[in-house]
Amino acid sequence: MSWTTMKLLPLVCLCLLTRSGTTFADEHGSGVVRVVVKEGSDAILPCSLSTKENAESKLFDWKKDGGKEVFFYVGGFHYNNGRPGQDQQFKGRISHFQDELKYGNASIIIRKTKVTDSGDYTCDFPLLQPRQILKIQLVVELTFRDRSGEITGASPEPSVKILNQTQDVALLQCDVQGASPKPTVEWQDSAGNKLPAEEPQVSERGGSFYIIFQTTVKKTDNYRCVATQEEIKHQIYAETYVFISEKLFEDTCSRGDVTGWFFSGFSLGALAVLASLVATKFITVRCNKGAAVKRQRNRRETERSNGTSVLHQTV
Ligand SMILES: *[C@@H]1O[C@H](CO)[C@@H](O)[C@H](O)[C@H]1NC(C)=O
Ligand SMILES: *[C@@H]1O[C@H](CO)[C@@H](O)[C@H](O)[C@H]1NC(C)=O
Repeated sequence: MSWTTMKLLPLVCLCLLTRSGTTFADEHGSGVVRVVVKEGSDAILPCSLSTKENAESKLFDWKKDGGKEVFFYVGGFHYNNGRPGQDQQFKGRISHFQDELKYGNASIIIRKTKVTDSGDYTCDFPLLQPRQILKIQLVVELTFRDRSGEITGASPEPSVKILNQTQDVALLQCDVQGASPKPTVEWQDSAGNKLPAEEPQVSERGGSFYIIFQTTVKKTDNYRCVATQEEIKHQIYAETYVFISEKLFEDTCSRGDVTGWFFSGFSLGALAVLASLVATKFITVRCNKGAAVKRQRNRRETERSNGTSVLHQTV
């Protein structure tokens, strides 16, 4: 093995581990493996015999927090083919990898992890000489999602409306009705950028928070009011489509350009004048065409805005 390969090897291993969400908390000492997954995703808890010997006919037992029966296997019989005794919490959610057993791999997978699956697991080969016990720590992280109806106090869907609209600005208002703990609110454009906004007006009644939150927008877009309660990892939003008519071609293709061409033409003589006239004609044609396209687009957007109401979905 070359010197470079040797130097790179630990780096490669580290990358592989990080990708699967698995880290060895302590490589030299206790050897506890830590697996971190997001709530709702699957977790593979790794366990392999150090000898790599065939485990198909062996006995191994996965337990959680010192007692709960997670997965028991003995010579082909296990919880998924009739053996009783599995803890209710894990019913129908655990599998082993049958094809991997011959390589001494007794890893299991927990499907659709819940926060309550977090904890300390052991993978035990009690009949092995010497006995082998591996410790795996599972951490199931909460993610932001819509938890309304699941947790009392979780903010209901905000209501958003266009309070006032002139030719080039619209005033939007977001109302959050009765949430506890106090949520943070944010206006975002369709790209997810946070918009500058007024200070939210917050009131409290009977331990619940009511928030009115306004912002002014100047562009056609889908705008979203997002309410977040960090403590309970709850997030919910409502959207509204705002149409603001764009200025027509005077802005993007000003008369100044054309006149400029014309005057510079004069100073260069008759031939140049002719050339500039031709150029002017070209520019006019191009600008008109551009404006026509723009007008058409504006019309389409008006149609779209008429058909759009408040949408909502889970983030
Ligand atoms: C054991 O099997 C699982 C599932 O196929 C796999 O993800 C894991 O990498 C295997 N472990 C080893 C040490 O081969
Ligand atoms: C809407 O905004 C314009 C310009 O700021 C203002 O003159 C007008 O009174 C507002 N209309 C309403 C209904 O608030």
